[in-house]
Amino acid sequence: MANNTLTIRDNRTGKELEIPILEGSEGPGVVDIAKFYKEFGLFTFDPGFRSTASCRSRITFIDGDEGILLYRGYPIEQLAEQSSFLEVCYLLLNGELPNKTQHDEFVKLVSEHTMVHEQMLFFYRGYRRDAHPMAIMVGMVGALSAFFHDSLDIQNPRHREVSAFRMLAKIPTIAAYSYKYSVGQPFVYPQNRLGYVENFLNMMFSVPCDDYKISSVAARALEQVLILHADHEQNASTSTVRLAGSSGANPFAAISAGIGALWGPAHGGANEAVLLMLEQIGTVERIPEFIKRAKDPDDPFRLMGFGHRVYKNYDPRAKVLRKAAHDVLEDLGRGDDPLFKMALALERIALEDDYFIKKKLYPNVDFYSGVIQSAIGIPTNMFTVIFAVARTIGWISQWMEMISEEDHSIGRPRQLYIGAKQRNYLSLSQR
Ligand code: CMC
Repeated sequence: MANNTLTIRDNRTGKELEIPILEGSEGPGVVDIAKFYKEFGLFTFDPGFRSTASCRSRITFIDGDEGILLYRGYPIEQLAEQSSFLEVCYLLLNGELPNKTQHDEFVKLVSEHTMVHEQMLFFYRGYRRDAHPMAIMVGMVGALSAFFHDSLDIQNPRHREVSAFRMLAKIPTIAAYSYKYSVGQPFVYPQNRLGYVENFLNMMFSVPCDDYKISSVAARALEQVLILHADHEQNASTSTVRLAGSSGANPFAAISAGIGALWGPAHGGANEAVLLMLEQIGTVERIPEFIKRAKDPDDPFRLMGFGHRVYKNYDPRAKVLRKAAHDVLEDLGRGDDPLFKMALALERIALEDDYFIKKKLYPNVDFYSGVIQSAIGIPTNMFTVIFAVARTIGWISQWMEMISEEDHSIGRPRQLYIGAKQRNYLSLSQR
């Protein structure tokens, strides 16, 4: 029984209901409206879910007003600075940081499952060469379910675990192959001796006919990008994964649905949209013109990479990546690149503009991740794919959490129906 309640009175009937308030370990409590319809015969209405908690979760906590992001209680800044991506994966999946033995076993497990079934390579050839790599990702990740009949029983914890590390290990390979296919280069097989990020860079950029030296600056920057994108509580793609998974769909199908949701420019597609926008703006001199457009309520143009549904202070991930972006540009000697100069000028101008200050529209994680990825040579249409590679662990962890809850049931929202009232069918001659 909750200690606190909220009393709601239906003024039509005078009926009152005490609604329990449930407290979490951090952040605002929630009112438990599960009995609301039964008691009042009313649904609640919250399009965009601005005030709705869709689940209980122990994984990630965000305080949007204070600019705080915690994975399993650990501040994102500490993890980005001191941890590795695979360690963060272990943490998100299992709830605790691994000790040395657990860490080494986990790294070995993931690195030994990076190859995809050779048969899958034929699927790539069915795509047009100019297919967007996210289109390939949606198809290929869903297709994994056709190869692993041995681990599709979602009620079996061992099956869930096997699916989890298979996806974690294979999605970077699938992602790199989607790029290789688009540029007509041979697929580069994964190398188990390389670290997770180094292996990904190698699969992306090495070619059989030449040596490829993995840049440690690029690897560290990408590692930070992956850590910072690994999870973000109940965002659109994660909610999609949970909803798809709630029907009992297999995890490959559920994650594939999440990849589709991530693709949109209001979500993961924003990092690609940032670079396209910078190219569209073209020169520093034209920035004021685009700022003016972004402020015009009659113009649909928005500054991509600015604003966030939850962070109304500063996106803590953006703070880390802002520094990383400056470091990478300096380390790689790209500070004078016109595109990056323009990104930094846009950042400065928007941060000083009254409209953006008043509406609390700060650069978000995608603004800087696009800049970093571009600086290390990742093609623009792969930015969202890399977001998907990073978010895979978040999706899997959230899906695992949902499936292992005793009272989980299919997600099935209701609606406010505003269509035609019941009417009778008229035959064609009567219309
Ligand atoms: N440029 C110009 N105006 C903006 C922007 C922007 N980027 N973002 C919000 N606004 C304005 C918007 O026009 C509205 O103004 P008004 O109150 O006068 O109508 C006000 O700010 C609130 O906007 P909203 O659309 O109600 O806010 P939201 O919480 O629904 O949207 C958002 C959040 C991220 C979708 C939005 O800020 C946006 O479209 N940003 C650009 C896309 C982007 O960078 N997305 C990546 C998000 S971070 C990655 C992730 O976590 O997925």
